[in-house]
Amino acid sequence: MVDLSTEYLGLKLANPVVPSASPLSRSLDTAKRLEDAGASALVMYSLFEEDVERSEASISDYLHHHETGYAEMVGYPGDVHDFSTLADDYLGQVFALKQALDIPIIASLNGVTPGGWVEYGSMLQESGADALELNIYYVAASPDQSSDVIEQLYIDIVTEMRHQISMPLTVKLFSQFSALPHFVRRLEQAGANGVALFNRFFQPDIDLRNLSVVPTLALSSSKELLLRSHWIAMLYGRVNVSLAVTGGVHTSEDALKAVLAGADVTHLCSALLRRGPDAVTEVLKGIQQWLEAHDYASLEEIKGLLSQKDVPDPKVYERANYVHLLQNYARQVKSGKG
Ligand SMILES: Cc1cc2nc3c(=O)[nH]c(=O)nc-3n(C[C@H](O)[C@H](O)[C@H](O)COP(=O)(O)O)c2cc1C
Repeated sequence: MVDLSTEYLGLKLANPVVPSASPLSRSLDTAKRLEDAGASALVMYSLFEEDVERSEASISDYLHHHETGYAEMVGYPGDVHDFSTLADDYLGQVFALKQALDIPIIASLNGVTPGGWVEYGSMLQESGADALELNIYYVAASPDQSSDVIEQLYIDIVTEMRHQISMPLTVKLFSQFSALPHFVRRLEQAGANGVALFNRFFQPDIDLRNLSVVPTLALSSSKELLLRSHWIAMLYGRVNVSLAVTGGVHTSEDALKAVLAGADVTHLCSALLRRGPDAVTEVLKGIQQWLEAHDYASLEEIKGLLSQKDVPDPKVYERANYVHLLQNYARQVKSGKG
């Protein structure tokens, strides 16, 4: 039997297949089915900064009106429990998942400003979370804001979070950073133990009939993996953090490519939303079979084998590849084969 174990954020995991943040972790039953299917850890859906702040504002509003007696006058609805549900429910779900499952539970906080919501990191830790994934989904819209300012924002949030928690901390990033390896090193210095590459950028579409901008949420395909595995391959062996791929992992081939590039774990979301927990079992079976067929005794043996640092021709990940590809294509067009 091939050893599929891997280390991620200092956690010893049985294999590299980890469901990523999604609504699936809202149900204890589904979470249990994911564990039974072979998932080695579980990243929870996110608790959003906006939800934390809305809950806190409602509580403070309630308390204020209650003290002044205004609540009774206007029939202020409900009691204080109505206002704390989102954040409290989340803490409760961490606790419940820890009771129901044996695999590590990675909580997820999603926000963009250093501030009060970051304190939830320590509450999540107290609720039993084994690690925290911080999703900083910041859309840099202002021409007045430089990339330095935006990177510093990330660093400030990670620094604050590190002060809040002692459990492992990973950061889920966008791909739009101009000097990603340098930035990841800064995150590491600020206290991050890992990075998850990459957030999918949910762009709205333009509806030509109604001349409106409409939100879209399309599930991914394996095509989205290449951007991720490329940057994992660039980071592997150059930074001292755990590496996770999130985006475009649907099959065992996708997972194997990610590990060959250098990933410690592969996150699945779209594949699970489409195919259910069976997708975990299928991916694991395929990884196992491929490793056996290629005479590897463990997953560890292939980790990073095709990273930029270890691949025989490192230029394949660099500008030289781009120039070669375009020139080759131009030659084919010229000779009528394009
Ligand atoms: C319906 C849905 C809900 C998601 N919810 C969250 C979330 O709460 N927090 C988060 O960080 N990512 C969330 N994601 C992003 C996924 O965790 C994952 O990073 C992304 O979908 C890329 O992986 P995939 O190609 O396997 O889908 C969500 C994605 C989908 C499709």
